Amino acid sequence: MAPIWSLLAVTALILQAIAAPYVTGNSALTSNLKDIPSVGLGTWLSDRDKVADAVEYALKAGYRHIDAAWIYKNEDKTGQGLSAALKSTKSLSRKDIWITSKLWNAHHRPKEATAAIQETLTNLAVDYLDLYLIHWPVAFVPHKGDELDKSVSLIDTWRTMENLVRANLTRYIGISNFARHEVEEILEECVICPYAHEFETHPYLQQGEFVEWHKGMGMKVIAYSPFGDTNPTYRGSHIEDDGKKKQTLLKDPFWVELAEKKNSTVAQAVLGWGLERKTVVIPKSTSKEHLAENLKAADRIVEFTFEEMEEIGKRDKKTRMNNPGRAWGVDLFSDLDDPTKLEHDEVFGDGDL
Ligand SMILES: NC(=O)c1ccc[n+]([C@@H]2O[C@H](COP(=O)([O-])OP(=O)(O)OC[C@H]3O[C@@H](n4cnc5c(N)ncnc54)[C@H](OP(=O)(O)O)[C@@H]3O)[C@@H](O)[C@H]2O)c1
Ligand SMILES: *[C@@H]1O[C@H](CO)[C@@H](O)[C@H](O)[C@H]1NC(C)=O
Ligand SMILES: *[C@@H]1O[C@H](CO)[C@@H](O)[C@H](O)[C@H]1NC(C)=O
Repeated sequence: MAPIWSLLAVTALILQAIAAPYVTGNSALTSNLKDIPSVGLGTWLSDRDKVADAVEYALKAGYRHIDAAWIYKNEDKTGQGLSAALKSTKSLSRKDIWITSKLWNAHHRPKEATAAIQETLTNLAVDYLDLYLIHWPVAFVPHKGDELDKSVSLIDTWRTMENLVRANLTRYIGISNFARHEVEEILEECVICPYAHEFETHPYLQQGEFVEWHKGMGMKVIAYSPFGDTNPTYRGSHIEDDGKKKQTLLKDPFWVELAEKKNSTVAQAVLGWGLERKTVVIPKSTSKEHLAENLKAADRIVEFTFEEMEEIGKRDKKTRMNNPGRAWGVDLFSDLDDPTKLEHDEVFGDGDL
């Protein structure tokens, strides 16, 4: 009884065949890496005082992928760590490392975008990025705080991103925090198409179907906040156990038991799950112990059976930790789990109607 599965498989192959040829990198910029490395180092909220050492240590320990962003306000320190590792490790070159950064909301207009990527390159002390992402599907008016910019569409911003590839400033471009309909908008119009979509996904916000859909389209999924609510800005804010005790993912009894069974730490088991579903995971740490522990996951020390994956699937809380939509007055993730819930009454009761 295979028809439905074979139909799905064939559909996925056709979609891949259609989508893949359009995902063009920049052939003027070469790399020793065939694809984005499956475990990367996150840098959001990494202390400015610690991140240079963390990046240097990580690269020496074997990390080959750094996830940065202009808005993290530590790209210069991240760059210092990168330069230090390159300088002190003869066998390591820029081409061995994957570097991602992101275009901030206030920089979607062409002039601002070009200046922003230049600033990022200067801060990171590199000539080009491997991947540049539209950080959010939201444009702010330059120099006007978070005032929304209605004059630039997502397609306008994508055209600007394509030009950054043509200008030899980045090998690939991609998106972050897009709803499905926003991804579709880009896929319909792109000439240089997204290499990857970086979004929040972890055992408490699994989005399995959305993840699979990207694979079918030939796009990589980069899973951010792989440890769920462990990021201290999220911690304890959403997760309730039976309406009573709050718990964090890395202390969840289900995961503690699973990790014991796998003879790994809970963090390694959670990262192993992300790799099992073929997402790229980018755990942040500035602790040497954690950096080493997390990198071990890349060796696939933890694997899961189909039955275990199904069991984990049942524990999906569909809880989003990172949603600035209300603060910005934008409906984010509108066709995904746990979207922004704008208070429409307030918005429309304001004399707009
Ligand atoms: N595109 C976007 O909009 C977006 C949004 C959010 C995040 N991101 C990216 O994704 C990266 C990762 O996400 P995240 O920083 O939100 O959260 P995360 O990586 O899921 O969790 C980070 C937290 O986990 C701790 N930790 C790390 N390894 C650990 C281990 N082995 N055992 C116990 N605790 C551990 C870290 O503390 P220590 O430092 O003390 O180890 C830190 O408090 C970010 O840094 C950023 O690069 C992108
Ligand atoms: C990009 O690099 C290639 C190869 O070095 C070069 O031929 C081309 O002129 C460059 N393009 C721009 C816009 O600098
Ligand atoms: C469990 O992991 C530890 C540390 O990685 C290792 O030394 C030990 O041999 C492992 N035990 C089993 C039963 O695999």
